Amino acid sequence: MTTSDDLWLINVRWVSVDGTHQVGPIRLERGRLALGSTAEIPTNAKVVDGRGGLVFPGLVDPHVHLREPGRAYKEGIANGTAAALAGGVTTVLDMPNDQPPTTSPGLVAAKKRRFASQSVTHFRLFQQATMQGPTRVATDIAGAKVYLARASSAAPVTTVARLSRIFAAFPLVAIHAELEEHLLAPTAGPHHLRRPVAALTAGLTLVEEALRRLPAGRRPRLVLCHVTGHAELAWLRRMKSEGFDVWGETCPHYLLLTQDDAVAAGAALQVNPPLRNAQDRDALWAALQDGTIDFLATDHAPHTPAEKASPLPPSGVPGLEWLGPFLVTLAITGRISWRRAVELGCANAASCYDLTGHSGLQEGCAANLALYVDCRTALPVLTRAGYCPYPDFGFAVRVAATFLDGEQRYCNHLLTGELQ
Ligand code: DOR
Ligand code: ZN
Repeated sequence: MTTSDDLWLINVRWVSVDGTHQVGPIRLERGRLALGSTAEIPTNAKVVDGRGGLVFPGLVDPHVHLREPGRAYKEGIANGTAAALAGGVTTVLDMPNDQPPTTSPGLVAAKKRRFASQSVTHFRLFQQATMQGPTRVATDIAGAKVYLARASSAAPVTTVARLSRIFAAFPLVAIHAELEEHLLAPTAGPHHLRRPVAALTAGLTLVEEALRRLPAGRRPRLVLCHVTGHAELAWLRRMKSEGFDVWGETCPHYLLLTQDDAVAAGAALQVNPPLRNAQDRDALWAALQDGTIDFLATDHAPHTPAEKASPLPPSGVPGLEWLGPFLVTLAITGRISWRRAVELGCANAASCYDLTGHSGLQEGCAANLALYVDCRTALPVLTRAGYCPYPDFGFAVRVAATFLDGEQRYCNHLLTGELQ
């Protein structure tokens, strides 16, 4: 039944779960999707004219650092989730290396209250599992995040025994696999040499040993965060082929940039783990196609321009505003299929993290989606980091509007005066 409360998206195409393109209109009926509706549009209905634009599912960004509590000046929940909407992202999974680190059920609950009052997207939170204390597991989290190298005031996890205990306690663990003892001093040459691939291979050996210590039925699902190249891909392929429940995540910056770019750009492209060489970058593209990589994330890790300009700049790059335009451009230009774009952008992360409403555009599902139109000008920068790490990518589209549970939450007014 149609009502005047429904929102109609007319003059649009949309991408179905199997990657085929369908012709609209789309009715957003009490937050749910009615696709290709042939019902007559009521005269006083709310209508958005998409002017031939493309509707793609709302993305899941399973790896962001919005910096609350403790360092909201770097981004904050409100600004970071606004940047997410600008990038077509409707769910973010926020990392726990806050100040103080979000390590206990109590701290997770307090952080959840912050998000509930400020977030303009759906969200889930990670709990940081550390070297100390009992492993008390918060309810309703995305999972545990384990850093094998320091990324907050909490000591990194560096022993097999501790890792095994964490694995036994949490049903899902996301891993930053660089191992602390293999990192060199900040003054020891270019960033990629200070954080060598050897730190990752040692970390993955530790992770595997800890997993194998547990009986198969007690092992957690494991997400290998921000895969940078050959070393992690070989590990993922071997573990997957042995039947381990391991998932691979990578980020646009590893697909688009190399260590040479980082050397040339300096702090703006300093990120952990570091950008690698061209062979690693190329291997990631193959892994996007063959399923070794399961989903994309931005690892949105903003720092202020002043911090990046300091003598010992912090690591991390922003990414949220560009995730949707990046992914949709890959499909438009044929670098990946449309079906794969849906898997990499939302459906696989939704199944890994058990998120509802993000399995792709399906009749009756929650209306989380974004409207993409041709890109003729630079994309907006909302992050407090103040820059796009890959401005020369050649975005074919931009986000004109983003809808969360059927409500229009973002509209790029400056560029789309035609949208209501
Ligand atoms: O570059 C990074 N920045 N890598 C991390 O693991 C942490 C992140 C941050 O929080 O800034
Ligand atoms: Zn991160």
